[in-house]
Amino acid sequence: MIARGQNSIFVLKFAAMAKEQAFIEGLEVAPKFDKRMQKRNELVALFEPDTFYQTTGGDYSNERLVPVANEFNRFSRWWNTQRRESPGALMGLELLYAKRVAALIGKSQGEPLIALDLGGGVGRSWIRLAKAFETDVAQGRVAFVVSNLQQICSGADAPSSEIEEFIRENSHLVNYASGDCLELMGGAVDLADDRSVPFAGHVGLVHERLSATYRSLIPEVDIECIAGMLSDQGAYFSRNHTQAVAQAFGFISEREKGLAMGRKAIVGKYGLVPVPKVEDGYMAGLPIADYTIFRKPASLPVAVGAFAATP
Ligand SMILES: C[S@@+](CC[C@H](N)C(=O)[O-])C[C@H]1O[C@@H](n2cnc3c(N)ncnc32)[C@H](O)[C@@H]1O
Repeated sequence: MIARGQNSIFVLKFAAMAKEQAFIEGLEVAPKFDKRMQKRNELVALFEPDTFYQTTGGDYSNERLVPVANEFNRFSRWWNTQRRESPGALMGLELLYAKRVAALIGKSQGEPLIALDLGGGVGRSWIRLAKAFETDVAQGRVAFVVSNLQQICSGADAPSSEIEEFIRENSHLVNYASGDCLELMGGAVDLADDRSVPFAGHVGLVHERLSATYRSLIPEVDIECIAGMLSDQGAYFSRNHTQAVAQAFGFISEREKGLAMGRKAIVGKYGLVPVPKVEDGYMAGLPIADYTIFRKPASLPVAVGAFAATP
């Protein structure tokens, strides 16, 4: 027997699936799509909402756009750890995002900003950012969202380092969301001031490393979902990988094709602009090595070392 509460969840889930289906029907897809979609559905069904898992992922303090940028770590994780002044200090790509977020909040005119770390694990960098913008988070000006395919529940183990302790103490400042891009697109974020903002059309920053682009069985769909989530000020940063897609689950060439099709579609259909070079700041003109970036034409240029605002 289905209890009343469960029943309404099923109805909502069914409505969401019908919406997802309608969205997919309008897209151009790469070969073996039905088989890949079936496998994606099986995978999604595997993830129970309360599944517990622990990960240390989502730390982008070693990431950079341009190899020589001096606001970024230059040498190694060791070097980075040595010069970290405190567990919450922003470094590497965190610093670039902090400047972008500060500038976006500055020009937001009251619209809340959603910054999404897509497939971010525990979201170490997003937690550092949320701590740096703690007042803005509390007042609903920004939400730092960390998604995973399954709901994450961190902090079961006793923290063994200063950084782990910091992460555990401050993880309540980020919003954890579960689902792949298709599911997220139909969802919403609850801000600290009790407003609820849908992902679709409201995300100002998407970051992804080793997640959707790398693992998705249906990248042509996921990439369009990401574009559909972006606001007019939105930008999407995706880490390049030596291998275009993960080996797991097969369909390597189909997924590569799907990824290329998705990236082409978001330029044509959503008007996103590819950003191959740094656009502003003292590194302007240098090729961006490690990331593929797209942004909305009206959004801020991608800057290294620009935007004076520091959180
Ligand atoms: C190895 S972790 C990466 C964590 C973090 N981004 C990092 O680089 O440290 C992979 C993440 O990708 C997510 N993921 C896998 N397939 C995905 C998909 N199709 N869409 C969105 N997220 C996905 C997983 O749930 C997980 O959070």
